[in-house]
Amino acid sequence: MKPKVFVTRPLPTPALDLLAEHFDIAFYPQDSPIPPEAMAKACREIEGLVVAGTRVTAEILNAASRLRAVSTASVGYDNIDIAACTARGIPVTNTVGVLEETTADLAFALLLAVARRVVEGDKFVRDGLWREWQWGLLHASDVHHKTLGLYGFGRIGQAVARRGRGFSMRILYYARHRVAESIEREFDAQLVDRETLLRQSDFLSLHIPKTPETVHTIGARELGLMKPAAFLINTARGSVVDEPALVHALETKTIAGAGLDVFEQEPKVHPGLISMPNVVLMPHVGSATAETRLKMAMRAAENLIAVLCGRRPADVVNPEVFA
Ligand code: 8YV
Repeated sequence: MKPKVFVTRPLPTPALDLLAEHFDIAFYPQDSPIPPEAMAKACREIEGLVVAGTRVTAEILNAASRLRAVSTASVGYDNIDIAACTARGIPVTNTVGVLEETTADLAFALLLAVARRVVEGDKFVRDGLWREWQWGLLHASDVHHKTLGLYGFGRIGQAVARRGRGFSMRILYYARHRVAESIEREFDAQLVDRETLLRQSDFLSLHIPKTPETVHTIGARELGLMKPAAFLINTARGSVVDEPALVHALETKTIAGAGLDVFEQEPKVHPGLISMPNVVLMPHVGSATAETRLKMAMRAAENLIAVLCGRRPADVVNPEVFA
Protein backbone atom coordinates (compact mmCIF):
# COMPACT_ATOMS: atom_id res chain seq x y z
CA MET A 1 0.00 0.00 0.00
CA LYS A 2 1.25 3.48 -0.90
CA PRO A 3 1.72 5.95 1.98
CA LYS A 4 -1.12 8.44 2.34
CA VAL A 5 -0.33 12.09 1.64
CA PHE A 6 -2.52 15.15 2.02
CA VAL A 7 -2.08 18.38 0.03
CA THR A 8 -3.84 21.46 1.41
CA ARG A 9 -4.22 23.33 -1.92
CA PRO A 10 -5.14 22.40 -5.48
CA LEU A 11 -1.50 22.57 -6.61
CA PRO A 12 -0.65 22.48 -10.35
CA THR A 13 -1.45 19.12 -11.96
CA PRO A 14 2.18 18.13 -12.72
CA ALA A 15 2.99 18.34 -9.00
CA LEU A 16 -0.11 16.36 -7.98
CA ASP A 17 0.69 13.79 -10.69
CA LEU A 18 4.25 13.43 -9.44
CA LEU A 19 3.02 12.89 -5.89
CA ALA A 20 0.43 10.39 -7.10
CA GLU A 21 3.18 8.26 -8.69
CA HIS A 22 4.50 7.56 -5.18
CA PHE A 23 1.62 8.10 -2.81
CA ASP A 24 -2.06 7.69 -2.25
CA ILE A 25 -2.90 11.40 -2.37
CA ALA A 26 -5.86 13.50 -1.36
CA PHE A 27 -6.02 17.28 -1.70
CA TYR A 28 -8.25 20.08 -0.51
CA PRO A 29 -9.90 21.20 -3.74
CA GLN A 30 -10.46 24.84 -2.81
CA ASP A 31 -7.82 27.52 -3.10
CA SER A 32 -8.57 28.87 0.36
CA PRO A 33 -7.39 27.94 3.84
CA ILE A 34 -8.76 24.56 4.87
CA PRO A 35 -10.76 24.83 8.13
CA PRO A 36 -8.75 23.43 11.08
CA GLU A 37 -11.31 20.65 11.83
CA ALA A 38 -11.25 19.45 8.22
CA MET A 39 -7.45 19.61 8.30
CA ALA A 40 -7.23 17.56 11.51
CA LYS A 41 -9.59 14.97 9.98
CA ALA A 42 -7.68 14.83 6.69
CA CYS A 43 -4.39 14.37 8.53
CA ARG A 44 -5.38 11.36 10.68
CA GLU A 45 -3.89 8.59 8.55
CA ILE A 46 -1.32 10.49 6.53
CA GLU A 47 2.44 10.04 6.44
CA GLY A 48 3.17 13.13 4.37
CA LEU A 49 1.73 16.65 4.25
CA VAL A 50 2.19 19.33 1.59
CA VAL A 51 1.06 22.83 2.58
CA ALA A 52 1.01 26.31 1.11
CA GLY A 53 -0.08 29.19 3.30
CA THR A 54 -1.68 26.69 5.70
CA ARG A 55 -1.04 26.63 9.44
CA VAL A 56 0.45 23.44 10.82
CA THR A 57 -0.14 23.68 14.54
CA ALA A 58 0.73 21.36 17.43
CA GLU A 59 -2.94 20.28 17.43
CA ILE A 60 -2.74 19.25 13.78
CA LEU A 61 0.47 17.37 14.49
CA ASN A 62 -1.19 15.59 17.40
CA ALA A 63 -4.00 14.52 15.12
CA ALA A 64 -1.48 13.21 12.58
CA SER A 65 0.14 10.42 14.58
CA ARG A 66 1.67 8.71 11.53
CA LEU A 67 3.11 11.88 9.98
CA ARG A 68 6.74 11.58 8.79
CA ALA A 69 7.24 14.63 6.55
CA VAL A 70 5.92 18.19 6.13
CA SER A 71 6.67 20.04 2.92
CA THR A 72 5.74 23.69 2.42
CA ALA A 73 5.51 25.26 -1.02
CA SER A 74 7.09 28.49 0.20
CA VAL A 75 10.43 29.72 1.39
CA GLY A 76 9.00 31.07 4.66
CA TYR A 77 7.89 28.54 7.25
CA ASP A 78 6.44 30.67 10.03
CA ASN A 79 3.09 28.93 9.41
CA ILE A 80 4.52 25.67 10.77
CA ASP A 81 5.23 24.72 14.38
CA ILE A 82 8.82 23.73 13.65
CA ALA A 83 9.67 22.94 17.28
CA ALA A 84 6.78 20.49 17.50
CA CYS A 85 7.85 18.84 14.22
CA THR A 86 11.44 18.58 15.39
CA ALA A 87 10.36 17.09 18.72
CA ARG A 88 8.58 14.38 16.73
CA GLY A 89 11.59 13.92 14.41
CA ILE A 90 9.56 15.13 11.41
CA PRO A 91 11.63 16.87 8.72
CA VAL A 92 10.13 20.12 7.43
CA THR A 93 11.12 21.20 3.93
CA ASN A 94 10.66 24.52 2.11
CA THR A 95 11.40 25.69 -1.43
CA VAL A 96 14.72 27.52 -1.55
CA GLY A 97 16.15 28.87 -4.78
CA VAL A 98 13.02 28.86 -6.93
CA LEU A 99 11.11 32.00 -5.95
CA GLU A 100 13.69 34.59 -4.95
CA GLU A 101 14.05 36.33 -8.32
CA THR A 102 10.27 36.48 -8.73
CA THR A 103 9.80 37.99 -5.29
CA ALA A 104 12.58 40.50 -6.00
CA ASP A 105 10.74 41.49 -9.19
CA LEU A 106 7.69 42.36 -7.12
CA ALA A 107 9.74 44.25 -4.53
CA PHE A 108 11.20 46.33 -7.33
CA ALA A 109 7.79 46.75 -8.97
CA LEU A 110 6.45 48.15 -5.69
CA LEU A 111 9.48 50.40 -5.38
CA LEU A 112 9.04 51.81 -8.87
CA ALA A 113 5.27 52.05 -8.56
CA VAL A 114 5.30 54.01 -5.33
CA ALA A 115 8.22 56.26 -6.34
CA ARG A 116 6.77 57.10 -9.76
CA ARG A 117 3.13 57.18 -8.58
CA VAL A 118 2.09 54.58 -11.14
CA VAL A 119 -1.13 53.56 -9.40
CA GLU A 120 -2.17 57.17 -8.84
CA GLY A 121 -1.49 57.94 -12.50
CA ASP A 122 -3.45 54.94 -13.68
CA LYS A 123 -6.43 55.96 -11.56
CA PHE A 124 -6.17 59.56 -12.75
CA VAL A 125 -6.39 58.47 -16.39
CA ARG A 126 -9.18 55.92 -15.82
CA ASP A 127 -11.21 58.42 -13.81
CA GLY A 128 -11.22 60.75 -16.83
CA LEU A 129 -9.32 63.45 -14.95
CA TRP A 130 -6.59 63.87 -17.57
CA ARG A 131 -7.64 66.93 -19.56
CA GLU A 132 -4.35 68.57 -20.53
CA TRP A 133 -0.60 68.16 -20.26
CA GLN A 134 0.69 69.86 -17.15
CA TRP A 135 4.23 70.69 -16.09
CA GLY A 136 3.49 69.88 -12.49
CA LEU A 137 1.37 66.77 -12.95
CA LEU A 138 2.20 63.84 -10.64
CA HIS A 139 5.67 64.98 -9.66
CA ALA A 140 7.33 61.91 -8.28
CA SER A 141 10.68 60.72 -6.92
CA ASP A 142 13.68 59.49 -8.86
CA VAL A 143 14.82 55.93 -8.40
CA HIS A 144 18.08 55.91 -10.34
CA HIS A 145 21.21 56.85 -8.41
CA LYS A 146 19.30 56.79 -5.11
CA THR A 147 20.32 54.74 -2.07
CA LEU A 148 18.71 51.33 -1.78
CA GLY A 149 18.86 49.87 1.72
CA LEU A 150 18.37 46.15 2.13
CA TYR A 151 17.35 45.05 5.59
CA GLY A 152 18.38 41.40 5.35
CA PHE A 153 20.72 40.34 2.58
CA GLY A 154 19.89 36.74 1.77
CA ARG A 155 18.86 35.49 -1.64
CA ILE A 156 15.91 37.85 -2.09
CA GLY A 157 17.76 40.87 -0.71
CA GLN A 158 20.63 40.19 -3.10
CA ALA A 159 18.24 39.75 -6.03
CA VAL A 160 16.74 43.17 -5.22
CA ALA A 161 20.26 44.62 -5.03
CA ARG A 162 20.96 43.27 -8.53
CA ARG A 163 17.93 45.15 -9.83
CA GLY A 164 19.02 48.26 -7.95
CA ARG A 165 22.43 48.13 -9.61
CA GLY A 166 20.63 48.16 -12.95
CA PHE A 167 19.21 51.51 -11.89
CA SER A 168 22.66 52.77 -10.80
CA MET A 169 21.56 52.75 -7.17
CA ARG A 170 23.94 52.84 -4.24
CA ILE A 171 23.48 49.61 -2.27
CA LEU A 172 23.65 49.45 1.52
CA TYR A 173 22.72 46.44 3.58
CA TYR A 174 22.25 45.46 7.16
CA ALA A 175 22.32 41.80 8.14
CA ARG A 176 23.31 39.73 11.13
CA HIS A 177 26.21 38.27 9.17
CA ARG A 178 28.44 39.92 6.64
CA VAL A 179 28.18 38.23 3.24
CA ALA A 180 31.23 37.03 1.33
CA GLU A 181 33.40 39.77 -0.13
CA SER A 182 32.73 38.45 -3.62
CA ILE A 183 28.99 39.09 -3.11
CA GLU A 184 29.61 42.59 -1.77
CA ARG A 185 31.78 43.26 -4.82
CA GLU A 186 29.16 41.87 -7.22
CA PHE A 187 26.57 44.40 -6.01
CA ASP A 188 28.98 47.06 -4.84
CA ALA A 189 27.11 46.60 -1.56
CA GLN A 190 28.26 48.02 1.73
CA LEU A 191 27.43 46.55 5.14
CA VAL A 192 26.31 49.29 7.52
CA ASP A 193 24.86 49.33 11.01
CA ARG A 194 21.10 49.37 11.48
CA GLU A 195 20.87 53.06 12.24
CA THR A 196 22.95 54.07 9.23
CA LEU A 197 20.76 51.92 7.01
CA LEU A 198 17.61 53.58 8.33
CA ARG A 199 19.04 57.10 8.12
CA GLN A 200 20.61 56.85 4.66
CA SER A 201 18.20 54.74 2.61
CA ASP A 202 15.95 56.44 0.07
CA PHE A 203 14.25 53.07 -0.37
CA LEU A 204 14.32 50.60 2.50
CA SER A 205 13.38 47.08 1.42
CA LEU A 206 12.81 44.39 4.04
CA HIS A 207 14.08 40.84 3.53
CA ILE A 208 13.99 39.13 6.90
CA PRO A 209 11.97 36.12 8.00
CA LYS A 210 9.22 36.26 10.60
CA THR A 211 10.53 34.93 13.90
CA PRO A 212 9.72 35.94 17.50
CA GLU A 213 12.83 38.17 17.33
CA THR A 214 11.89 40.01 14.12
CA VAL A 215 8.34 41.04 15.07
CA HIS A 216 8.08 44.86 14.73
CA THR A 217 11.67 45.22 13.57
CA ILE A 218 10.41 48.43 11.98
CA GLY A 219 8.44 50.46 14.50
CA ALA A 220 7.95 54.13 15.41
CA ARG A 221 11.59 54.59 16.41
CA GLU A 222 12.98 53.10 13.20
CA LEU A 223 10.51 55.01 11.01
CA GLY A 224 11.52 58.16 12.85
CA LEU A 225 15.13 57.65 11.81
CA MET A 226 14.23 57.39 8.12
CA LYS A 227 14.36 60.35 5.73
CA PRO A 228 11.06 62.17 5.18
CA ALA A 229 11.55 61.47 1.46
CA ALA A 230 12.16 57.74 1.97
CA PHE A 231 9.94 54.82 0.99
CA LEU A 232 9.46 51.51 2.80
CA ILE A 233 9.06 48.33 0.75
CA ASN A 234 7.89 45.13 2.43
CA THR A 235 7.65 41.81 0.61
CA ALA A 236 8.83 39.79 3.64
CA ARG A 237 6.21 39.34 6.36
CA GLY A 238 3.67 41.85 7.63
CA SER A 239 4.51 41.51 11.28
CA VAL A 240 8.11 42.65 10.86
CA VAL A 241 6.56 46.11 10.60
CA ASP A 242 4.41 47.70 13.31
CA GLU A 243 1.50 48.53 11.00
CA PRO A 244 -0.20 51.21 13.17
CA ALA A 245 3.21 52.88 13.61
CA LEU A 246 3.67 52.82 9.83
CA VAL A 247 0.26 54.39 9.29
CA HIS A 248 1.14 57.11 11.80
CA ALA A 249 4.51 57.72 10.09
CA LEU A 250 2.79 58.06 6.72
CA GLU A 251 0.09 60.35 8.11
CA THR A 252 2.63 62.62 9.77
CA LYS A 253 4.90 62.56 6.68
CA THR A 254 7.71 61.00 8.70
CA ILE A 255 8.32 58.95 5.53
CA ALA A 256 7.07 59.56 1.99
CA GLY A 257 5.34 56.31 1.11
CA ALA A 258 5.28 52.54 1.17
CA GLY A 259 4.96 49.56 -1.14
CA LEU A 260 3.49 46.59 0.71
CA ASP A 261 2.79 43.00 -0.32
CA VAL A 262 2.39 41.68 3.22
CA PHE A 263 0.39 42.77 6.25
CA GLU A 264 0.20 42.09 9.96
CA GLN A 265 -3.21 40.42 9.87
CA GLU A 266 -3.72 39.18 6.34
CA PRO A 267 -6.08 39.45 4.64
CA LYS A 268 -7.01 42.43 6.82
CA VAL A 269 -5.26 45.66 5.92
CA HIS A 270 -5.13 48.64 8.27
CA PRO A 271 -7.86 51.06 7.06
CA GLY A 272 -5.38 53.91 7.28
CA LEU A 273 -3.33 52.31 4.50
CA ILE A 274 -6.32 51.78 2.24
CA SER A 275 -7.08 55.49 2.05
CA MET A 276 -3.52 56.68 1.35
CA PRO A 277 -2.53 57.46 -2.24
CA ASN A 278 1.19 57.25 -1.47
CA VAL A 279 0.95 53.55 -0.59
CA VAL A 280 0.86 50.72 -3.12
CA LEU A 281 -0.81 47.57 -1.83
CA MET A 282 -0.61 44.00 -3.15
CA PRO A 283 -2.29 40.86 -1.73
CA HIS A 284 0.79 38.76 -0.76
CA VAL A 285 1.67 37.72 -4.29
CA GLY A 286 5.47 38.05 -4.24
CA SER A 287 6.04 34.60 -5.74
CA ALA A 288 2.82 34.47 -7.74
CA THR A 289 3.84 33.97 -11.34
CA ALA A 290 2.70 30.90 -13.24
CA GLU A 291 6.30 29.77 -13.82
CA THR A 292 7.40 30.18 -10.23
CA ARG A 293 4.29 28.67 -8.68
CA LEU A 294 4.87 25.56 -10.79
CA LYS A 295 8.51 25.38 -9.67
CA MET A 296 7.47 25.80 -6.04
CA ALA A 297 4.87 23.04 -6.29
CA MET A 298 7.29 20.68 -8.04
CA ARG A 299 10.02 21.34 -5.48
CA ALA A 300 7.58 20.80 -2.62
CA ALA A 301 6.53 17.48 -4.19
CA GLU A 302 10.14 16.40 -4.79
CA ASN A 303 11.11 17.26 -1.21
CA LEU A 304 8.24 15.22 0.21
CA ILE A 305 9.10 12.27 -2.03
CA ALA A 306 12.74 12.45 -0.93
CA VAL A 307 11.89 12.37 2.77
CA LEU A 308 9.26 9.63 2.55
CA CYS A 309 11.57 7.52 0.34
CA GLY A 310 14.38 7.82 2.86
CA ARG A 311 16.53 10.30 0.93
CA ARG A 312 17.84 13.65 2.06
CA PRO A 313 15.65 16.43 0.57
CA ALA A 314 17.11 19.41 -1.32
CA ASP A 315 15.83 21.78 1.38
CA VAL A 316 15.39 21.14 5.06
CA VAL A 317 14.42 23.61 7.74
CA ASN A 318 15.23 21.44 10.78
CA PRO A 319 18.31 19.41 9.74
CA GLU A 320 18.79 18.26 13.33
CA VAL A 321 16.14 15.58 12.71
CA PHE A 322 18.62 13.81 10.41
CA ALA A 323 21.43 13.80 13.01
C1 8YV B 1 4.09 31.89 -0.58
C2 8YV B 1 5.85 33.29 0.58
O1 8YV B 1 3.34 32.01 -1.73
O2 8YV B 1 7.48 31.68 0.06
C3 8YV B 1 7.00 32.43 0.91
O3 8YV B 1 7.48 32.49 2.04
O4 8YV B 1 5.54 34.20 1.26
C4 8YV B 1 5.07 33.02 -0.65
O5 8YV B 1 5.96 32.77 -1.69
C5 8YV B 1 3.16 31.90 0.59
O6 8YV B 1 3.87 31.81 1.79
C6 8YV B 1 2.19 30.74 0.54
O7 8YV B 1 2.86 29.50 0.54
